Amino acid sequence: MPLAAVSWLALASGSAAGLGGPTGGTSVFAPLSTHAEEIHRYSLFVLGITGAIFLVVFTLLAVAVVRFRRRPGDDDAEPPQIYGSLQVEVAWTVIPVLIVIVLGLTTARTIFQIQNRPKPPGALEVTVIGRQWWWELRYPSLGIVTANELHLPVSDSAHPAPTFLTLLSADVAHSFWVPRLAGKTDLIPNRDNQMWIAPVTPGIYLGNCAEYCGTQHARMLIRVIVHPPGEFEKWVASQQSNAANEGQVKAGRDIFFSTSCVNCHTITGTEANGKFGPDLTHLMSRETLGSGAALNNPEKLRAWVRNPQNLKQGCYMPDMQLTEEQMDELVRYLLTLN
Ligand code: CUA
Repeated sequence: MPLAAVSWLALASGSAAGLGGPTGGTSVFAPLSTHAEEIHRYSLFVLGITGAIFLVVFTLLAVAVVRFRRRPGDDDAEPPQIYGSLQVEVAWTVIPVLIVIVLGLTTARTIFQIQNRPKPPGALEVTVIGRQWWWELRYPSLGIVTANELHLPVSDSAHPAPTFLTLLSADVAHSFWVPRLAGKTDLIPNRDNQMWIAPVTPGIYLGNCAEYCGTQHARMLIRVIVHPPGEFEKWVASQQSNAANEGQVKAGRDIFFSTSCVNCHTITGTEANGKFGPDLTHLMSRETLGSGAALNNPEKLRAWVRNPQNLKQGCYMPDMQLTEEQMDELVRYLLTLN
């Protein structure tokens, strides 16, 4: 238990430096989503019981150490030996059993309360696919594919709008964890896991892959952007449009379509339909690059395309070996994908 308490405290005080929005931070003690609140209440209950056990055990230990320590003038005789006390043995068997039963039943109740929540008709469904080392996000009913930044509507009591996630993996096991919105759920190859979230406050929430999945596991960040009422529909409309097709960036577009970029990336409305890397149709609508490895601005975008290995060593995007002029043209084209 002390170990778990330490990691909780680390989480409570930790936040992803510089990447937090108004509701940023990753404290499990500041839940802002329906079932994150249930998990929070439950964890305080468990912390209360285990904290009380800790206090009782350490108080008795301290009393024993201080009161019965060796003193000058003690004789070295063996202290009186006591064998068998029915009352004491019954007490230290029955009390822990009762505690375990209470903890077990409360855990089961919380799990079933969360997992068995019926899916209301018309709930938003999103498929989250874990990949080394980024998140593919699909909104099948809306025809949207994006990456690393999960956009959702806020779910208040007047307009409940829970989002149901189907969690898949394209390669190894990952784990989806946005501490202020929900507990962890793993993404496992050849299996679909389900979870749902219903954030009650608009804002940006940070999360991370929580299952070691290879070199860049630590840079597999996820952001959840919870929109106030009405704003989510605007985001949907902007994402449903085809990619921008501006005449003055033709040179850069030609570079994109004549290199192997198209083998890995999709840009809707064009012949680029690669599936291995993130969909780039609305690349510039995203705040970060490389699943949170860098902020998405022209300078970092150029550095990323110049050599992704500098910003995210081990990632599967290669250095395309372009000249500096080709780089400028290509980045100019990518900047139009908003
Ligand atoms: Cu994906 Cu760790």
